[in-house]
Amino acid sequence: EVYNPNGKYRVVSTKPMPGTRWINLLVDQGCRVEICHLKKTILSVEDIIDLIGNKCDGVIGQLTEDWGETLFSALSKAGGKAFSNMAVGYNNVDVEAANKYSIAVGNTPGVLTETTAELAASLSLAAARRIVEADGFMRAGLYEGWLPHLFVGNLLKGQTVGVIGAGRIGSAYARMMVEGFKMNLIYFDLYQSTRLEKFVTAYGQFLKANGEQPVTWKRASSMEEVLREADLISLHPVLDKTTYHLVNKERLAMMKKEAILVNCSRGPVIDEVALVDHLRENPMFRVGLDVFEEEPFMKPGLADMKNAIVVPHIASASKWTREGMATLAALNVLGRIKGYPILSDPNR
Ligand code: DGY
Repeated sequence: EVYNPNGKYRVVSTKPMPGTRWINLLVDQGCRVEICHLKKTILSVEDIIDLIGNKCDGVIGQLTEDWGETLFSALSKAGGKAFSNMAVGYNNVDVEAANKYSIAVGNTPGVLTETTAELAASLSLAAARRIVEADGFMRAGLYEGWLPHLFVGNLLKGQTVGVIGAGRIGSAYARMMVEGFKMNLIYFDLYQSTRLEKFVTAYGQFLKANGEQPVTWKRASSMEEVLREADLISLHPVLDKTTYHLVNKERLAMMKKEAILVNCSRGPVIDEVALVDHLRENPMFRVGLDVFEEEPFMKPGLADMKNAIVVPHIASASKWTREGMATLAALNVLGRIKGYPILSDPNR
Protein backbone atom coordinates (compact mmCIF):
# COMPACT_ATOMS: atom_id res chain seq x y z
CA GLU A 1 0.00 0.00 0.00
CA VAL A 2 1.55 3.31 -1.09
CA TYR A 3 0.57 6.89 -0.23
CA ASN A 4 1.95 9.89 -2.08
CA PRO A 5 4.04 7.88 -4.59
CA ASN A 6 6.05 10.91 -5.71
CA GLY A 7 7.03 11.99 -2.21
CA LYS A 8 10.65 13.00 -1.70
CA TYR A 9 11.37 10.81 1.32
CA ARG A 10 10.54 7.12 1.43
CA VAL A 11 9.17 5.93 4.78
CA VAL A 12 8.29 2.27 5.28
CA SER A 13 6.02 0.86 7.96
CA THR A 14 6.54 -2.87 8.47
CA LYS A 15 2.88 -3.23 9.55
CA PRO A 16 -0.40 -1.45 8.96
CA MET A 17 -0.95 0.77 12.02
CA PRO A 18 -4.21 2.15 13.47
CA GLY A 19 -5.65 5.46 12.31
CA THR A 20 -4.73 7.72 9.41
CA ARG A 21 -3.19 10.64 11.33
CA TRP A 22 0.28 9.13 11.12
CA ILE A 23 -0.01 8.65 7.35
CA ASN A 24 -1.38 12.16 6.78
CA LEU A 25 1.34 13.87 8.72
CA LEU A 26 4.08 12.05 6.79
CA VAL A 27 2.40 12.72 3.44
CA ASP A 28 1.86 16.41 4.32
CA GLN A 29 5.58 16.71 4.93
CA GLY A 30 6.54 15.26 1.56
CA CYS A 31 7.00 11.58 2.36
CA ARG A 32 6.08 8.62 0.24
CA VAL A 33 4.59 6.15 2.74
CA GLU A 34 4.74 2.42 2.09
CA ILE A 35 2.89 0.02 4.33
CA CYS A 36 3.72 -3.68 4.30
CA HIS A 37 0.75 -6.03 4.15
CA LEU A 38 2.63 -9.34 4.14
CA LYS A 39 0.32 -12.02 5.46
CA LYS A 40 2.54 -13.14 8.30
CA THR A 41 2.54 -11.83 11.83
CA ILE A 42 6.27 -11.77 12.45
CA LEU A 43 8.52 -10.49 9.68
CA SER A 44 11.98 -12.00 9.30
CA VAL A 45 15.16 -9.99 8.84
CA GLU A 46 15.10 -10.99 5.13
CA ASP A 47 11.52 -9.73 4.74
CA ILE A 48 12.53 -6.38 6.18
CA ILE A 49 15.67 -6.12 4.03
CA ASP A 50 13.37 -6.53 1.00
CA LEU A 51 11.11 -3.78 2.30
CA ILE A 52 14.04 -1.41 2.88
CA GLY A 53 15.20 -1.88 -0.72
CA ASN A 54 17.75 0.49 -2.28
CA LYS A 55 16.39 3.77 -1.00
CA CYS A 56 14.69 4.24 2.31
CA ASP A 57 14.82 7.30 4.57
CA GLY A 58 13.14 5.84 7.60
CA VAL A 59 11.35 2.78 8.96
CA ILE A 60 8.63 2.33 11.54
CA GLY A 61 8.94 -1.18 12.95
CA GLN A 62 7.42 -3.45 15.55
CA LEU A 63 8.59 -5.11 18.76
CA THR A 64 8.36 -8.55 17.13
CA GLU A 65 11.24 -7.67 14.77
CA ASP A 66 14.91 -8.15 15.37
CA TRP A 67 16.46 -4.72 14.76
CA GLY A 68 20.15 -5.55 14.99
CA GLU A 69 23.35 -4.95 13.05
CA THR A 70 22.04 -6.56 9.81
CA LEU A 71 18.97 -4.36 9.50
CA PHE A 72 20.68 -1.13 10.54
CA SER A 73 23.45 -1.79 8.06
CA ALA A 74 20.85 -2.40 5.29
CA LEU A 75 18.96 0.76 6.28
CA SER A 76 22.15 2.79 6.29
CA LYS A 77 23.10 1.52 2.80
CA ALA A 78 19.66 2.61 1.60
CA GLY A 79 20.36 6.13 2.92
CA GLY A 80 18.19 5.71 6.02
CA LYS A 81 18.46 8.10 8.93
CA ALA A 82 15.75 7.00 11.33
CA PHE A 83 14.05 4.00 12.85
CA SER A 84 11.19 4.07 15.34
CA ASN A 85 9.76 1.16 17.22
CA MET A 86 6.01 1.38 17.63
CA ALA A 87 6.46 0.48 21.31
CA VAL A 88 7.88 1.96 24.45
CA GLY A 89 10.03 -1.13 25.03
CA TYR A 90 13.01 -1.47 22.73
CA ASN A 91 14.67 -4.68 23.85
CA ASN A 92 14.33 -5.82 20.20
CA VAL A 93 16.52 -2.92 19.07
CA ASP A 94 20.31 -2.89 19.20
CA VAL A 95 20.74 0.81 19.91
CA GLU A 96 24.53 0.55 19.73
CA ALA A 97 24.32 -0.88 16.20
CA ALA A 98 21.97 1.96 15.21
CA ASN A 99 24.39 4.51 16.67
CA LYS A 100 27.23 2.92 14.71
CA TYR A 101 25.36 3.63 11.47
CA SER A 102 24.19 7.08 12.66
CA ILE A 103 20.59 5.96 12.57
CA ALA A 104 18.44 7.65 15.18
CA VAL A 105 16.16 5.37 17.19
CA GLY A 106 12.78 6.33 18.58
CA ASN A 107 10.21 4.69 20.83
CA THR A 108 6.68 5.62 21.93
CA PRO A 109 6.46 6.35 25.66
CA GLY A 110 3.77 8.37 27.40
CA VAL A 111 0.80 7.64 25.14
CA LEU A 112 0.51 4.10 26.48
CA THR A 113 1.09 4.74 30.18
CA GLU A 114 -2.51 4.75 31.41
CA THR A 115 -3.73 2.10 28.95
CA THR A 116 -1.01 -0.31 30.03
CA ALA A 117 -1.56 0.44 33.71
CA GLU A 118 -5.30 -0.16 33.21
CA LEU A 119 -4.62 -3.63 31.81
CA ALA A 120 -2.34 -4.43 34.76
CA ALA A 121 -5.17 -3.27 37.05
CA SER A 122 -7.70 -5.37 35.08
CA LEU A 123 -5.55 -8.49 35.41
CA SER A 124 -5.11 -7.75 39.12
CA LEU A 125 -8.86 -7.57 39.67
CA ALA A 126 -9.62 -10.51 37.40
CA ALA A 127 -7.10 -12.65 39.30
CA ALA A 128 -8.21 -11.44 42.73
CA ARG A 129 -11.87 -12.15 42.01
CA ARG A 130 -11.30 -15.22 39.80
CA ILE A 131 -13.36 -13.69 37.02
CA VAL A 132 -12.05 -15.82 34.14
CA GLU A 133 -12.53 -19.06 36.09
CA ALA A 134 -16.04 -18.02 37.08
CA ASP A 135 -16.90 -17.05 33.50
CA GLY A 136 -15.77 -20.50 32.28
CA PHE A 137 -17.89 -22.11 35.00
CA MET A 138 -21.02 -20.26 33.85
CA ARG A 139 -20.44 -21.05 30.18
CA ALA A 140 -19.91 -24.71 31.01
CA GLY A 141 -23.42 -24.76 32.52
CA LEU A 142 -22.08 -25.65 35.98
CA TYR A 143 -23.87 -22.95 37.97
CA GLU A 144 -26.59 -24.49 40.12
CA GLY A 145 -27.27 -21.55 42.42
CA TRP A 146 -25.64 -19.23 44.94
CA LEU A 147 -23.29 -20.85 47.45
CA PRO A 148 -21.30 -19.27 50.32
CA HIS A 149 -17.99 -20.66 49.07
CA LEU A 150 -18.41 -20.26 45.33
CA PHE A 151 -15.38 -18.52 43.73
CA VAL A 152 -14.24 -16.83 46.90
CA GLY A 153 -11.28 -14.56 46.10
CA ASN A 154 -9.25 -11.75 47.67
CA LEU A 155 -10.46 -8.35 48.90
CA LEU A 156 -7.87 -5.83 47.72
CA LYS A 157 -8.84 -3.02 50.12
CA GLY A 158 -6.34 -2.87 52.98
CA GLN A 159 -3.98 -5.35 51.30
CA THR A 160 -0.55 -4.33 50.05
CA VAL A 161 0.21 -3.77 46.40
CA GLY A 162 3.84 -4.24 45.44
CA VAL A 163 5.27 -2.52 42.38
CA ILE A 164 8.61 -3.52 40.92
CA GLY A 165 9.81 -0.79 38.59
CA ALA A 166 8.12 2.51 39.43
CA GLY A 167 8.61 4.35 36.15
CA ARG A 168 5.75 5.92 34.23
CA ILE A 169 3.62 2.76 33.92
CA GLY A 170 4.46 1.28 37.34
CA SER A 171 3.62 4.59 39.03
CA ALA A 172 0.33 4.98 37.14
CA TYR A 173 -0.62 1.43 38.15
CA ALA A 174 0.33 2.11 41.78
CA ARG A 175 -1.86 5.21 41.85
CA MET A 176 -4.81 3.29 40.37
CA MET A 177 -4.54 0.53 42.96
CA VAL A 178 -4.00 2.88 45.90
CA GLU A 179 -6.67 5.39 44.99
CA GLY A 180 -9.14 2.99 43.39
CA PHE A 181 -8.94 0.19 45.93
CA LYS A 182 -7.36 1.78 49.00
CA MET A 183 -4.39 -0.56 48.95
CA ASN A 184 -1.17 0.09 50.84
CA LEU A 185 1.90 0.42 48.64
CA ILE A 186 5.38 -1.02 48.71
CA TYR A 187 7.60 -0.39 45.72
CA PHE A 188 11.09 -1.09 44.53
CA ASP A 189 12.91 0.96 41.96
CA LEU A 190 16.53 1.93 41.51
CA TYR A 191 15.38 5.54 41.57
CA GLN A 192 13.18 7.16 44.16
CA SER A 193 9.72 8.01 42.83
CA THR A 194 9.11 11.25 44.70
CA ARG A 195 5.99 12.02 42.67
CA LEU A 196 4.48 8.68 43.59
CA GLU A 197 5.40 9.14 47.24
CA LYS A 198 3.91 12.65 47.35
CA PHE A 199 0.71 11.31 45.84
CA VAL A 200 0.31 8.44 48.32
CA THR A 201 1.13 10.70 51.28
CA ALA A 202 -1.43 13.31 50.17
CA TYR A 203 -4.03 10.63 49.51
CA GLY A 204 -3.41 9.10 52.95
CA GLN A 205 -3.95 12.52 54.53
CA PHE A 206 -7.15 12.97 52.54
CA LEU A 207 -8.49 9.62 53.78
CA LYS A 208 -7.54 10.49 57.36
CA ALA A 209 -9.26 13.86 57.15
CA ASN A 210 -12.38 12.01 56.04
CA GLY A 211 -12.25 9.65 58.98
CA GLU A 212 -11.02 6.69 56.92
CA GLN A 213 -8.08 4.38 57.51
CA PRO A 214 -5.14 6.06 55.74
CA VAL A 215 -3.11 4.10 53.21
CA THR A 216 0.57 3.57 53.89
CA TRP A 217 3.53 3.44 51.54
CA LYS A 218 7.09 2.20 51.73
CA ARG A 219 10.04 2.31 49.37
CA ALA A 220 11.64 -1.13 49.72
CA SER A 221 15.38 -1.42 49.92
CA SER A 222 15.32 -4.63 47.87
CA MET A 223 13.08 -6.39 45.42
CA GLU A 224 12.88 -9.34 47.80
CA GLU A 225 11.26 -7.11 50.42
CA VAL A 226 8.42 -6.39 47.99
CA LEU A 227 8.05 -10.07 47.10
CA ARG A 228 7.82 -11.08 50.76
CA GLU A 229 5.45 -8.35 51.93
CA ALA A 230 3.03 -7.66 49.08
CA ASP A 231 -0.27 -9.46 48.48
CA LEU A 232 -0.43 -8.34 44.86
CA ILE A 233 2.71 -7.68 42.83
CA SER A 234 2.93 -6.04 39.44
CA LEU A 235 6.14 -6.10 37.39
CA HIS A 236 7.13 -3.00 35.41
CA PRO A 237 10.89 -3.11 34.79
CA VAL A 238 12.53 -2.73 31.39
CA LEU A 239 13.94 -5.98 30.01
CA ASP A 240 17.71 -6.06 29.90
CA LYS A 241 20.47 -8.39 31.11
CA THR A 242 19.86 -7.38 34.72
CA THR A 243 16.12 -8.10 34.68
CA TYR A 244 16.15 -11.39 32.72
CA HIS A 245 14.48 -14.02 34.97
CA LEU A 246 14.16 -11.47 37.74
CA VAL A 247 11.35 -13.62 39.09
CA ASN A 248 12.85 -17.10 39.34
CA LYS A 249 12.20 -20.23 41.43
CA GLU A 250 13.85 -18.81 44.55
CA ARG A 251 12.03 -15.50 44.34
CA LEU A 252 8.66 -17.15 43.66
CA ALA A 253 9.20 -19.15 46.84
CA MET A 254 9.57 -15.89 48.81
CA MET A 255 6.10 -14.74 47.85
CA LYS A 256 3.01 -15.32 49.96
CA LYS A 257 1.21 -18.57 49.11
CA GLU A 258 -1.92 -16.62 48.16
CA ALA A 259 -0.19 -13.76 46.38
CA ILE A 260 -1.11 -12.50 42.93
CA LEU A 261 1.59 -11.75 40.36
CA VAL A 262 0.90 -9.58 37.30
CA ASN A 263 3.24 -9.05 34.36
CA CYS A 264 2.61 -6.51 31.60
CA SER A 265 6.29 -5.71 31.03
CA ARG A 266 8.25 -8.34 29.07
CA GLY A 267 7.92 -12.13 29.31
CA PRO A 268 11.56 -13.02 30.01
CA VAL A 269 11.40 -11.04 33.27
CA ILE A 270 9.78 -14.23 34.68
CA ASP A 271 11.27 -17.73 34.45
CA GLU A 272 8.11 -19.23 32.95
CA VAL A 273 9.06 -22.88 33.58
CA ALA A 274 9.59 -22.10 37.27
CA LEU A 275 6.30 -20.21 37.27
CA VAL A 276 4.35 -23.18 35.90
CA ASP A 277 5.80 -25.41 38.66
CA HIS A 278 4.96 -22.80 41.27
CA LEU A 279 1.38 -22.46 40.03
CA ARG A 280 1.00 -26.24 40.08
CA GLU A 281 2.32 -26.55 43.63
CA ASN A 282 0.46 -23.52 44.98
CA PRO A 283 -3.14 -23.52 43.73
CA MET A 284 -3.99 -20.38 45.73
CA PHE A 285 -1.20 -18.41 44.03
CA ARG A 286 -2.52 -16.58 40.96
CA VAL A 287 -1.03 -14.81 37.98
CA GLY A 288 -2.22 -12.43 35.30
CA LEU A 289 0.10 -12.45 32.29
CA ASP A 290 0.07 -10.22 29.24
CA VAL A 291 3.55 -11.23 28.07
CA PHE A 292 5.40 -14.53 27.66
CA GLU A 293 8.97 -15.68 27.59
CA GLU A 294 8.95 -16.78 23.95
CA GLU A 295 5.99 -15.14 22.31
CA PRO A 296 3.75 -16.24 20.73
CA PHE A 297 4.25 -19.48 22.70
CA MET A 298 3.49 -20.36 26.30
CA LYS A 299 5.60 -22.84 28.23
CA PRO A 300 4.00 -26.29 28.49
CA GLY A 301 1.40 -26.54 31.21
CA LEU A 302 0.67 -22.83 31.56
CA ALA A 303 -2.51 -22.93 29.48
CA ASP A 304 -3.92 -25.68 31.73
CA MET A 305 -3.52 -23.72 34.95
CA LYS A 306 -6.79 -22.48 36.41
CA ASN A 307 -4.85 -20.05 38.58
CA ALA A 308 -3.38 -18.28 35.54
CA ILE A 309 -5.03 -15.63 33.37
CA VAL A 310 -3.29 -15.20 30.03
CA VAL A 311 -3.89 -12.54 27.39
CA PRO A 312 -1.96 -11.92 24.14
CA HIS A 313 0.25 -8.85 24.81
CA ILE A 314 -2.63 -6.36 24.65
CA ALA A 315 -1.68 -3.96 27.45
CA SER A 316 -1.42 -0.95 25.14
CA ALA A 317 -4.38 -2.00 23.00
CA SER A 318 -6.80 0.90 23.31
CA LYS A 319 -7.75 2.77 20.15
CA TRP A 320 -6.53 6.11 21.50
CA THR A 321 -3.20 4.69 22.56
CA ARG A 322 -2.48 2.67 19.45
CA GLU A 323 -3.23 5.69 17.24
CA GLY A 324 -1.02 7.76 19.52
CA MET A 325 1.80 5.23 19.26
CA ALA A 326 1.57 5.23 15.47
CA THR A 327 1.60 9.04 15.40
CA LEU A 328 4.53 9.32 17.75
CA ALA A 329 6.50 6.71 15.78
CA ALA A 330 5.82 8.67 12.56
CA LEU A 331 6.86 11.95 14.21
CA ASN A 332 10.06 10.32 15.45
CA VAL A 333 11.04 9.28 11.93
CA LEU A 334 9.84 12.48 10.29
CA GLY A 335 11.67 14.74 12.74
CA ARG A 336 14.96 13.05 12.06
CA ILE A 337 14.45 13.08 8.28
CA LYS A 338 13.83 16.81 8.51
CA GLY A 339 17.02 17.27 10.49
CA TYR A 340 15.74 17.66 14.04
CA PRO A 341 16.68 15.49 17.03
CA ILE A 342 14.34 12.54 17.31
CA LEU A 343 11.26 13.35 19.41
CA SER A 344 11.38 10.36 21.67
CA ASP A 345 14.87 8.93 21.88
CA PRO A 346 15.50 6.11 24.35
CA ASN A 347 19.21 7.08 24.34
CA ARG A 348 18.37 10.25 26.22
C1 DGY B 1 5.41 -1.69 24.39
O1 DGY B 1 5.06 -0.60 23.92
O2 DGY B 1 6.58 -1.91 24.69
C2 DGY B 1 4.35 -2.73 24.62
O3 DGY B 1 4.84 -3.94 24.96
C3 DGY B 1 3.40 -2.82 23.46
O4 DGY B 1 2.68 -1.67 23.49
